[in-house]
Order: sequence, then C-alpha cells, then structure tokens
Amino acid sequence: MLHLVGSPTADFFADLSRLYARGCLEALADVPGYDHVVVWVGPDGRWRFPADLGGEAIGAAEPVELAEAVGLVRGIAPDVALPQLFCIAGMTTYRALLDVLGVPFVGNPADVMALAAHKERTRAVVAAAGVDVPPGRVLRGHPDVDERLLDDAVEAVGLPVVVKPVDADNSTGVALVRNRADLRSAVGEAARETSAGDVLVERFVPLGREVRCAVLETADGLRALPLEEYAVDPQHKPIRDRADKLAGSGDDLALVAKTHDHAWMVADDDSVVPGVQEAAALAFRALGCRDYGLFDFRVDPEGRPWFLEAGLYCSFAPSSVVVMMAAAGGTPLPELFVSAVERTLTRG
Ligand SMILES: Nc1ncnc2c1ncn2[C@@H]1O[C@H](COP(=O)(O)OP(=O)(O)O)[C@@H](O)[C@H]1O
Ligand SMILES: [Mg+2]
Repeated sequence: MLHLVGSPTADFFADLSRLYARGCLEALADVPGYDHVVVWVGPDGRWRFPADLGGEAIGAAEPVELAEAVGLVRGIAPDVALPQLFCIAGMTTYRALLDVLGVPFVGNPADVMALAAHKERTRAVVAAAGVDVPPGRVLRGHPDVDERLLDDAVEAVGLPVVVKPVDADNSTGVALVRNRADLRSAVGEAARETSAGDVLVERFVPLGREVRCAVLETADGLRALPLEEYAVDPQHKPIRDRADKLAGSGDDLALVAKTHDHAWMVADDDSVVPGVQEAAALAFRALGCRDYGLFDFRVDPEGRPWFLEAGLYCSFAPSSVVVMMAAAGGTPLPELFVSAVERTLTRG
C-alpha cells in the first residue's frame, strides 16, 4: 500500500496530512498482510520516499521531481494507494494522477473530491436530490463587491447570514454576520481565502444543533453511521471557528475537535438521527461518492436538518471522524480499513 502524504501547495495542509497519516500508519501496523510505503509530496512540489513520517526521515530523504517520482512509484508497483493529501490540488489532481498511474485507491475519485471541495456546486447537487440546503447567494469574483449586490444578497437570504469562501475549509474566512453594516468586510475577508474570489452568503441556521453523519458503501448497500455532535451554543459559540478544530502548527499541530468537550456521539434513539441519516445517504448518492462520505448538518430548533457541506476524505487514523463513527457503530478501524481496501482491489 502506497500512502500519498503531504501537500504540493501549503505547509499547513502538509502538516495536517502528516498528522493523520502517522496516526493511520501506527494504527495499521498490526494489520497482517500489508507492506506500507510512504511517499511525501512537499510544498516545493517534489516527492520524497522517507522511511517514516518523522521530520528527520523526511529531511533525510532525497527529493525527486515528479517525472522521476512516477518511475519510482511504477517500480514499487503498489497494489493499492491511500491518498492522504488535504489541499485542493492534493485531493483532486493528485488522486487523478493515481488513476493515470493505474494505482487503485481507497476513497472518493478526483472528480467527486473537486465537486465536494466547492460549496456552491455541492449545494446545488444535493439540493437537486431533495436535501434541504440553507438559502444562499454567491458573490462573484473580487473583494470590492458592489453595494447593490450586497443588498440583493441580504434581501434574498435574510439576516443573519454566514459568509464563507466557496472553496476553503476549517472555518477559514467564515463569519457570522448579523448586521448589514458588517457584510462588506466579511465578504472581503472570505474572498481573500479563495482563489476565484467567490463568496457564499448563506442563511444562518439557528441552533438547534450541529452534527455530522458518515455513510459507508457496503456489500449490502449504503450504511449510515452513528452521528457525531459538536459543541455549539447560541450565545457563546453560534458557529464553529478554526480554533474549535485545530491548534498549533508543524509537529505540534493538534486536533481540538477530538476532545470530548468539543464533540461526542449521538445516541441511536435520538430523534435527530433518522432525518440526518436519510439526508446524508441522499447526499452520498447525489454527489457520486465512493467507499465513504461525511456530511455536516445544522439542525434547526424545529429539528429540521440543513445540509452544510460534505467532507469526503478519511485518513484511517483513529482520530479520523469516519473511523470514530464506524467504531461507535461496531466496526473497529482494522475491519473498516480492510473492507475498504477489499472493495478497492475488487473494482481494480
Ligand atoms: N448556514 C449556516 N448556518 C449556521 N451556521 C453555519 C452555516 N454555515 C456554516 N456555519 C457554521 O460555520 C462553520 C464552518 O462552516 P462550514 O460551511 O462547515 O465551512 P468549513 O469548510 O470551513 O468547515 C460550521 O461548522 C458551522 O458552525
Ligand atoms: Mg465545516
């Protein structure tokens, strides 16, 4: 198994990728029948084949250009790959590269990743399948948007709104705007976090609750897993921000959301479960997901779930959300991993 780790574009995503991939390799060390080979794609665009994912091993590994790396990967001739890149190029182009190289990989294909990385397009696709998405408007192109367009957006969507870049993550550039006067600067901030400058202005879904639901593809069809719920609070924490998800950087990068006061599993008999699981399965099919998918919802005070976004990656680390949900549903990590790999090998 080839583990494709790092980021060709950003140190932050490279650190995040390394954090999860190390967790994965540690957790899978005892699963029999696998040889794990690591490839590190650095923010300099070069590839390294380190002995492990420690900073020292990566530093000691000889960097090679892509053309040479392709030959090395062909020489390794992996049966299967696990893509662990989280930046947009890493999630899309580099998965497509595995297709070109003829290496089957676990998880969602490049085109589905590209779709899910773009919130505007994702919303359109899942809404067409009958999933509720909060009303929204997209402001195009640049931070200096015309006042009239801001007025139009507010009129169409209604305040308060959540402003966000169409294609960022980890709450980067996301803001809750209650007053029209604050909209311009929020849109400008969001526009700076996206290459095309497109910003989504979405109706704020009041609390309620915030939950995520993973869906697995199995031999018997789709299986929705137990939900994870996030700590939010109408007064003190109306939306989740970056500090709720990540802390530190480099070797000290840590996952805040994994601590139990930030997130917990929802009981199976909770009234919120069936509606969210049904919407998650609809979203899975509509987006054309493969192997697994993870879908975020806000649940309004009336108990109605509203789709926020899809996160279609899983690192198979114990801290991966899909892994924690599968474990809560009675499928431990090794079993989840082996069955995903078997599906991958079968489809070839
Ligand atoms: N329409 C909305 N209504 C209420 N809260 C929202 C809405 N959209 C986003 N949020 C809040 O902002 C957070 C980040 O937004 P999200 O769409 O998930 O972007 P990201 O990809 O950065 O995680 C969510 O976890 C949620 O708390
Ligand atoms: Mg999110």
